[in-house]
Amino acid sequence: MDGTTYLSDYRPYPFTLDHVSLTFRLAPKATRVKAALSLAPREEGAPLHLDGEELKLISLAIDGQALKPADYLLTEAGLTIHPAALPEGAFTLETEVEIAPEDNTALEGLYMSKGMYCTQCEAEGFRKITFYPDRPDVMARFHVRIEGDQSVLLSNGNPVGHGPGWAEWDDPWPKPAYLFALVAGELVATHGTFTTMSGKTVDLNIWVRPGDEDRTAFALGALARAMKWDEEAYGREYDLSLFNLVAVDDFNMGAMENKGLNIFNSKLVLASPETATDLDYERIEGVIGHEYFHNWTGDRITCRDWFQLCLKEGLTVFRDQSFTSDMRLGPVKRIEDVITLRGRQFREDAGPLSHPPRPDHYREINNFYTATVYEKGAEVVGMLKTLVGPEGYRKALDLYFERHDGQACTIEDWIKVFEDSSGRDLSQFKHWYTDAGTPRLKVTDNFKDGTYTLEFTQETRPTPGQPEKPARHIPIAVGLLSPNGDEVVPTTVLEMTGDRQSFTFTGLGAKPVPSILRGFSAPVVLERETSAEEQAFLLANDTDPFNRWEAGRNLARATLTAMTVGAEPDPAYVEALGALIGDESLSPAFRALILRLPGEDEIAQSLFTAGRTVDPDAIHRARHALMATLAERHETALAHLFDASAVPGPYKPDAASAGLRSLRLACLSLLSLRDDAARARALYASAGNMTESLGALGILVTVGKAETELAAFRKRWQGNPLVMDKWFVTQLSLCPPDEAPDLAARLAADPLFDWRNPNRFRSVLGGLSANHAGFHRKDGAGYRFYADWLIRLDPLNPQTAARMSTAFETWARYDKARQEKMRAELARIAAQPGLSRDLGEMTARLLG
Ligand code: ARG
Ligand code: ZN
Repeated sequence: MDGTTYLSDYRPYPFTLDHVSLTFRLAPKATRVKAALSLAPREEGAPLHLDGEELKLISLAIDGQALKPADYLLTEAGLTIHPAALPEGAFTLETEVEIAPEDNTALEGLYMSKGMYCTQCEAEGFRKITFYPDRPDVMARFHVRIEGDQSVLLSNGNPVGHGPGWAEWDDPWPKPAYLFALVAGELVATHGTFTTMSGKTVDLNIWVRPGDEDRTAFALGALARAMKWDEEAYGREYDLSLFNLVAVDDFNMGAMENKGLNIFNSKLVLASPETATDLDYERIEGVIGHEYFHNWTGDRITCRDWFQLCLKEGLTVFRDQSFTSDMRLGPVKRIEDVITLRGRQFREDAGPLSHPPRPDHYREINNFYTATVYEKGAEVVGMLKTLVGPEGYRKALDLYFERHDGQACTIEDWIKVFEDSSGRDLSQFKHWYTDAGTPRLKVTDNFKDGTYTLEFTQETRPTPGQPEKPARHIPIAVGLLSPNGDEVVPTTVLEMTGDRQSFTFTGLGAKPVPSILRGFSAPVVLERETSAEEQAFLLANDTDPFNRWEAGRNLARATLTAMTVGAEPDPAYVEALGALIGDESLSPAFRALILRLPGEDEIAQSLFTAGRTVDPDAIHRARHALMATLAERHETALAHLFDASAVPGPYKPDAASAGLRSLRLACLSLLSLRDDAARARALYASAGNMTESLGALGILVTVGKAETELAAFRKRWQGNPLVMDKWFVTQLSLCPPDEAPDLAARLAADPLFDWRNPNRFRSVLGGLSANHAGFHRKDGAGYRFYADWLIRLDPLNPQTAARMSTAFETWARYDKARQEKMRAELARIAAQPGLSRDLGEMTARLLG
């Protein structure tokens, strides 16, 4: 009744919908949409409810007969036709509505971006296009006619006819409305083809605005690589003769897997060496893979209801991570993914927004496109794979596709497939989907007479609405090293199911050093009383690359947290790092990761988890001091490495070259504390690619010496929105914290701050919140600025405003004064008249 939707209220739709025919007559202020739905009742006497929002109803008829006002009820939320007005059997419902895409600032439904029409229907945007059962379990075949004077008119499926001013499309695959898409504009395509494993030819097109076509080659290649990979790794072949992908400048999220017509935020498509960084290239390939992989895990098999979102998202993230891992360096990718998981999902799980990968209630589903649903959802799939092994996983996935193709499914269906194919009971494992919170795993060890025992206990703290936390089924990958560094027990997966559990290893000559949670085999916080010597030993000797990095990370985190309360940098860490940076047997990308210190937010999070004071200024100072110590102690080695890791020849975005550049920039950021940023300035001046220009610029900003370069950068790139986003975010996120709130205010007054564009809005607000000590400046100026802009954006684009409000999710970490200031801003937002459901739900949850 309070507008909350509950999982337990799920009921199947009382009608079948076989076929939909849509006709669009495009006009910016008055687009007409005609829909013909072929419906049939599944139960007798049920009213017909169709979702519909912000639609102007023009006409309404059943089997050619106009309905009378008494036959139906029209509300803000939709249209309900009384059972008495419905025929007995199958019938056709015809509607015509008018909508105004040009006035659609929420970027949900049909809207306009720089003169082009485009759509975003997930999760519930289709109801802003026409009256329809806008729920994922209603799957129908779509026929679409578009009338408009644009040169390019696209929809899902296959083109079945076109002429001057019109085009028709037919999608043979039944789909839910959230996968519908339409694009119309003056676009140009980069073409390619792909031959599938059964020999069919697929035409590939990347559509962009004229002028952008010279930045599409990488995206096209990535698409072909993704298609090939899905055939090899999952046996999945593409199922249409055409695949269209469109880049759009105004987009709330990353990209969307609409059947045969993926729509992308242009930042995840367009790349050239001069405009995109190595990280951009990696993300573009990953997200193109992600959306392509959805064709099977999302489109062919979709979700029964939105509570099951992680069924498609967790699995598809897991798939895109594996793809990137195969295309690039597997261990490095795993480390990057764990950094993201901890930085976003552990943070979310530790605060008021904590929820399970499969939530059981929501007010606004768009608020649940979260790190928990996506990234933790992917970890849960990874654990299933660890439990059943690679062959068992492939068997389970084969069964999933065989059993559920064409269906709208649940997490129960998914788990059943693993149970049936492996013969295992996964009922306890299911808690990973239904329970919120990050388990903490404590471990102690004991050695006696050749027998080594590891004893684990697990505990998950209460989360909102879930006070009780039953034990999870946790796969713990463990290896044992002898004191001389040899591996005496190779990686073994221990399965923990109890609250407390011991595992023994026999026949050992000496007490081993354990390497626990190899590859980060479960998304838990591992707590172990251990010495710096042991971590240094693992950093030097572990055969598991993830845990080798983790040992370095543990040392860095420990010394940084101690330094926030006045300790000196730990010499064990400083020396161990020196040994690694010169170790040529390690890949440059891996060494770059080791050299990159934990960010300030990560340090804050670990202090908070340990129940200690979180002082943003002290954290900032400690991190800077540790960098200065490392730079001083290893100056010669770093300078040598900086020179040696220059990449010769023209720019290439491959993993090996990117690894070298990232190592070089990691050295540079330390060296700049010794050479008055002379090297960084020289690199900025000579750089021939965006990775190095932006890397050098960021370093200059950090040391407060970037004025000339920032002005030159702006001048050169002011006509390129994606590059200008980098200009905004770099200076805000890296500038001295004291200056950040004022800089944010100055940048918000810049004529190039087009705040209605989500990428630009995010570059300024996200830039500020990424500047940890700056956002949390004691006087609360950061909070105030941030809240002001959320309030301003909310009436126009509630989805993006709500998403950005998560900057406040960590309020409980900080001192009383900061807590009060953050909560006061949240309360101020919550009190706005006409606040959206999106931001209203977020502030209510944030305030607890
Ligand atoms: N399904 C898209 C993806 O690949 C995300 C779309 C989310 N959009 C939204 N408005 N909630 O991850
Ligand atoms: Zn997705």
